[in-house]
Amino acid sequence: MAELIVALDFPDAQSAVSCLDLLPDGCAVKVGSVMLARAGAGFVRGLVGAGHPVFLDSKWYDIPNTVAGACNAAADLGVEMVTVHAGGGDAMLRAAVDAAAGRIKIVAVTVLTSHDAVSYAAITGRNSINIADEVTRLAEIALRAGVDGIVCSPEEVGRVKGVVGVGRIVVPGIRRPDDARGDQARVATPEAAVAAGATHLVVGRPITAAADPAAAYRDFLAAGQ
Ligand code: C5P
Repeated sequence: MAELIVALDFPDAQSAVSCLDLLPDGCAVKVGSVMLARAGAGFVRGLVGAGHPVFLDSKWYDIPNTVAGACNAAADLGVEMVTVHAGGGDAMLRAAVDAAAGRIKIVAVTVLTSHDAVSYAAITGRNSINIADEVTRLAEIALRAGVDGIVCSPEEVGRVKGVVGVGRIVVPGIRRPDDARGDQARVATPEAAVAAGATHLVVGRPITAAADPAAAYRDFLAAGQ
C-alpha cells in the first residue's frame, strides 16, 4: 500500500486551488520549484493550514549551511517532506537531516531522470557510466547520511529497495495503462510500482488534467492499495 501524492504543477495558485476543490479534503500534494516561485511560501502555508500534507520538491543542492537553513525554513512552514540531491554529498545530507531533527522527512534524488549515460559521464568527467549503478551508489551515500528515503523512477524502484536503510521510496512517472505519458519516458502503473516497492506515488497530470479529477484520484488510490 502506497501513499498517493498529487503533483500541483499549475501556472498559478488559483488554478491549483480550483483543482484541489475537486479532490478529497486533506489529500497529500507536491509543490515544486515552479509552483513555489509563482505562488510563494504563503501558498504553501495555506495548503498546510487546509490540512494537506505537503511534499516540497525543490531538490536542494547547496553548501551544508544553506541546505540546513532551507530545511529549517521548510519545517517551520509545516511541510511534511522535502527533497535534496544525494550528489550534494555526506556533509550536506547530514546537515539537512540534523536541521530537520525529525520534524520533516528528507528524501534524496540520485541521478536526474533527464540524464542519460553520456550526459552524466560528461558532467562527472568519467569515461563510462552505468546509470543504474550510479543510482545505487548515490542512494547508499544518502541513506548512510540518515535521509528517510529516495526519489526514483519506476525503473529504479527494485534496485533502490535493496539498498540498506531505505524507508520511503517516492516514485513519479505513474500512469494507468490508458493515460497519456506526456513527457515521461519511463512509466509504470500504480500496481507495478507498489509491487516493486514504492511507498509513495506521485501523480500529476493523470489526475489534475483529468475530465473528472476526483474519479481519477480514486482510481489511483485504489490501484495503489
Ligand atoms: O504530471 P506527472 O504525473 O508526469 O507529474 C510527475 C511529477 O513528478 C512532476 O511534478 C515532476 O516534476 C515530478 N518528477 C518527475 N520525475 C522525476 C522527479 C520528479 O516526474 N524524476
